[in-house]
Amino acid sequence: MIAPDSRFKKIWDFFVFLVTIYTALYIPISIVFGIRPRGIFLIIELVISAVYIGDMVITLRTAYFQRMKLVTDFKAISRRYLKKWFWFDILACIPFGLIFSFDSAWMLFPAVGVLRMLRTAKLIHSSVRIRRNSNMNPSIIRMLFLILFVVIFAHFVSCIWIEIGSITPYGDTDTAIKINHYIQSYYWTITTLTTVGYGDLLPDKESSLQLTFVIVLELIGAAIYGFIIGNIANLIANIDIAKSQHKEKVDKMNSFLKYHAVPERLTMKVNDYYAYLWDSRRGYEERNVINDLPLSLKTSVSIQINRDMIEKVPIFKGASNAMLEEIILNLEPTIYTPKDYIVKEGDIGYDMFFIKKGSVDVVNSDGSIKFATLLEGQFFGEIALLLQLPRTANIIANEYCDLYKLNKETFDSILDRYPEFKKSIAEMAEKRRLEMLASKAK
Ligand code: CMP
Repeated sequence: MIAPDSRFKKIWDFFVFLVTIYTALYIPISIVFGIRPRGIFLIIELVISAVYIGDMVITLRTAYFQRMKLVTDFKAISRRYLKKWFWFDILACIPFGLIFSFDSAWMLFPAVGVLRMLRTAKLIHSSVRIRRNSNMNPSIIRMLFLILFVVIFAHFVSCIWIEIGSITPYGDTDTAIKINHYIQSYYWTITTLTTVGYGDLLPDKESSLQLTFVIVLELIGAAIYGFIIGNIANLIANIDIAKSQHKEKVDKMNSFLKYHAVPERLTMKVNDYYAYLWDSRRGYEERNVINDLPLSLKTSVSIQINRDMIEKVPIFKGASNAMLEEIILNLEPTIYTPKDYIVKEGDIGYDMFFIKKGSVDVVNSDGSIKFATLLEGQFFGEIALLLQLPRTANIIANEYCDLYKLNKETFDSILDRYPEFKKSIAEMAEKRRLEMLASKAK
């Protein structure tokens, strides 16, 4: 079975997508210009059929995710495929190119030749897969697909216009003339679809077919135009949702500070904080974002996000997964700005802290003795919780500090159930307490 997220599958899907775009562009052109599938074009059509058949086999051999499980059962995969995409894909496999290479079939051309257009049905399935697999910004992907579909739709319309419009290419054999016919037709389609309508290329007033086609196209054009403008405005606003939401927050805060005539110096500090928020976490509030997820997914995402920090904390080395999961789910991210007092000597302790980023100084009450500087991966605030004492020192942020807070309740319940962890924390607390006493005695 092939994994749905494997590299091979992604490359294959992209290849099929390119082949499909070629098909969608080439087939209508070959129909209106009466290009008979012969020589190299026949070979290409046969190769495409082979690729499409191969794609069906690969799709049937690719597992899929459902309800958090990877489904690898062939029967389940085929059932799912048969429900929808199979029918689009099977149409695309039929080698109409080969059929029309026979003279008797060619006689039926172009009426039956239009059947070859069925191959372009594959475009829908192929695009869905590419959109699903892509690592690109979803808004950019949507915009690219919107453009692609408008371009291909306009291509189809241009080909129909060549067929029924005032541009009749059948008699011409010169490629340059054909290309010019096509470009004129594409130009006419775009001016009509975008409602620009210069009116330099006109339908024949005597031809009801042409006039009807133009009426329908104008109606579709108005709808498409509105759809595109609406979508593009929406997509541009959403290209970087995080950035626009962050900017909105900053603007709101600044007008609030202005309204209250907060001094400029303080306003600058607030803005500096927001700049840090953006640099360190793209403005995302981890808690708020992942709280939407169910517990199991929240745990996996939290562990993934905090993997670096967990690896840096020595007391977590060798800890059981159950304990790590419990701690991680209860950690609360907090930020301190430079020179903030995170902990004050003599206060009652309600939390202990892990340093994700930044550094802090451990000092006595008047700041005359520095006991230690703690860096990323280290923790503090455990003594008050463990020994039921008031805080034994001041902790001051040296720079912006990204910390994780663990409240006393969780701390106690974890220590009760994981004696090994309690032992290592207690050892560290005792060592620190003795160090502190020794420094004070000097
Ligand atoms: P707590 O007493 O709750 O609050 C102050 C914290 O400073 C204390 O817990 C320890 O985590 C930390 N601390 C105290 N002494 C030292 C030291 N010598 N080295 C490192 N950290 C210390």
